[in-house]
Amino acid sequence: MATYDLVAATAPGQLGVVQDTIPEPAEDQVVIRVEYSTLSPFDLYNLDRNFFVFKYPHVFGVTASGTIAKVGSSVPDLSVGDRVIALPFPPGNKGLQAYTLQSRSVVTKIPDSLPLEKAVTYPDNFTTAFFTLFNQLDLPIPDEWPAKDTPNSVRPILVYGAGSTSGQHTIQLLKYAGYTNVVAVASKKHEQFLETLGAAHVVDYNSPSFAEDVIMAAGGKVELVVDSISLPSTFALIKDEASMETDGELVQEAPKEIQDTFPENVSLIAVSTFFFQKDKRLADTLIPVFLPKLIGIGLQPNRVRLLNHADLLTRVKDGFDLLRQNKISGEKLVIKVGQ
Ligand SMILES: NC(=O)c1ccc[n+]([C@@H]2O[C@H](COP(=O)([O-])OP(=O)(O)OC[C@H]3O[C@@H](n4cnc5c(N)ncnc54)[C@H](OP(=O)(O)O)[C@@H]3O)[C@@H](O)[C@H]2O)c1
Repeated sequence: MATYDLVAATAPGQLGVVQDTIPEPAEDQVVIRVEYSTLSPFDLYNLDRNFFVFKYPHVFGVTASGTIAKVGSSVPDLSVGDRVIALPFPPGNKGLQAYTLQSRSVVTKIPDSLPLEKAVTYPDNFTTAFFTLFNQLDLPIPDEWPAKDTPNSVRPILVYGAGSTSGQHTIQLLKYAGYTNVVAVASKKHEQFLETLGAAHVVDYNSPSFAEDVIMAAGGKVELVVDSISLPSTFALIKDEASMETDGELVQEAPKEIQDTFPENVSLIAVSTFFFQKDKRLADTLIPVFLPKLIGIGLQPNRVRLLNHADLLTRVKDGFDLLRQNKISGEKLVIKVGQ
């Protein structure tokens, strides 16, 4: 059987090169020859905190872009050589490996004009934003994109951590769904960029008058808050703001002790992106149907910090160092996987 080298965690906190075999697809699967993957905070938690690691070697990368290398017998609409992106699922076949085995439902073709290193930024952030807004928060999925006649389109919606790559997708999806009063909370330096993505207002999370700034920008009560960061410090800021004016829902990855500190009229929803697979309709449509539709009407990829120097192990080590040192701001860390 043909083999190839990949970079993985070989033990908690340790990176190494291991060998894997090039897989064969089952009838509803494809094998992607991966050109690019990404490193995100989730991968760092895998490596440094052993979070969500089920066995070693543990492979990284929750996204992949590349070309189809092999196609299962019941996949009618993909062919060898097609340029694709994927949200690798389940764990075991990930993005940061030269050959990844994926089910058809997590793969979509991309336009020839879209570079693979940019396209790789879509799958996880798009899925997180879409699942949060249109499933966990129950906002209606528009019949057409961009949406027309959105009910309650002027309700204020706060996106905390809008400078993050998932926050940027949340802002864009709200725009395409027709919401016009989106308040983005991010560093001041992202202001103009976030406005181009669809934010009506940008509030600096370092402002000493943060709560007042949000209420002023929103024009009153904030009904929905999406927190893309979910740190104790962000809970504290939002709680302060929420306790003053909010009577709606707050989406957070909040442990019980955090929930208990919020006012009773604020309901918290913890979002786990990979649970989108539990909703059969979303599992079959999110990546193959909705993602290309949104890309087609102008959904922007994230800005890219590309690591394509030296060998793969060096790139991955350097990438994790950049994440540890908080040197990634407003952009996605993309790793060249192919030679
Ligand atoms: N639950 C899930 O399923 C799920 C899915 C995806 C991501 N996540 C989590 O969501 C978080 C963001 O992920 P990502 O991939 O989008 O990250 P990312 O793009 O790497 O996030 C980096 C950005 O976070 C912003 N940030 C950091 N600390 C902040 C703070 N205290 N207040 C406001 N903004 C802050 C910074 O914005 P500025 O440049 O404005 O400073 C920076 O640009 C991570 O913790 C990740 O694990 C969870």
